[in-house]
Amino acid sequence: MYSKDIRTDAETKRLLVEKAIEVLLNSYAPYSHYNVAAAALFDSGKIYTGVNVENASYGASICAERNAIFHAAAEGERKLLALAVVGGRKGNYGSEYCTPCGICRQVMREFADPEKMIVLCAKSADDYKEYTLAELLPQSFGPEYL
Ligand code: THU
Repeated sequence: MYSKDIRTDAETKRLLVEKAIEVLLNSYAPYSHYNVAAAALFDSGKIYTGVNVENASYGASICAERNAIFHAAAEGERKLLALAVVGGRKGNYGSEYCTPCGICRQVMREFADPEKMIVLCAKSADDYKEYTLAELLPQSFGPEYL
């Protein structure tokens, strides 16, 4: 169980970014040449990674964030606390902050408290921007409406 406050836990935030960077080269993006990796911390304390995996039928591609979150869901996780994302054009990693697409923000919303969950958009473990999900997806629609 993760029992700290992720907003003030610099060590875990650093670890999350490092885990994402660790798998970035596994990104499969032969069409866009834009590689993305994500690492998601759930309340079990476990971190799940994901990369974008593209497809010759472009619409069948999946983003790094959703890959990480869906893997976690398959392992029984339901409460998302934080997610780090890194990415960039091939050979250009670390020069820009990659922010999650709208669909991935909505998928995060399914498993997170938008005011508490944090998203780290990183260039490196020492250089990242931090947002709450509510900042990235204001006035959002979620499971409690249904
Ligand atoms: N992509 C992600 O994996 N996550 C994001 O947050 C932004 C976009 C992927 C989708 C596609 O494979 C490539 O980046 C270019 O859009």
